[in-house]
Amino acid sequence: MNTLLIQKAISMRNKAHAPYSNYHVGAAVESHSGKIIGGCNVESSSYSLTCCAERVALFSAISEDLFPIKALAVSTENGGTPCGACRQVIWDLCGDIPIYICDNQKMLRETSSKSLLPDAFDQSLLKG
Ligand code: THU
Repeated sequence: MNTLLIQKAISMRNKAHAPYSNYHVGAAVESHSGKIIGGCNVESSSYSLTCCAERVALFSAISEDLFPIKALAVSTENGGTPCGACRQVIWDLCGDIPIYICDNQKMLRETSSKSLLPDAFDQSLLKG
């Protein structure tokens, strides 16, 4: 467990832009060098353009040269887990890493990207 990573994910819920669902999600990722960067969900009036907190955090980490990523934490009001699209992106960008599932106060459980997306499609299937 990583307390700073979890606290960052929880605090990122305050940044959520979620006027349509009012479901505030915070996420944070940690690099191998110990740097932490957060993300929040950002919704659009054209709903499908919404970006989840996990992907905002991961894309920010790419833009800040934080890869490879060691762990990810996500915080919601009720312990929600990453959606299917985010599971695919986490697997593609991070491989098998610990995922900390949190509510708005604490970590509820630890899982992993492999457990969340078993038998994943990935780049290994695109080669050769
Ligand atoms: N959401 C996330 O940010 N992450 C997830 O893994 C699940 C869903 C957001 C998207 C939308 O803004 C709101 O939660 C309701 O679906």
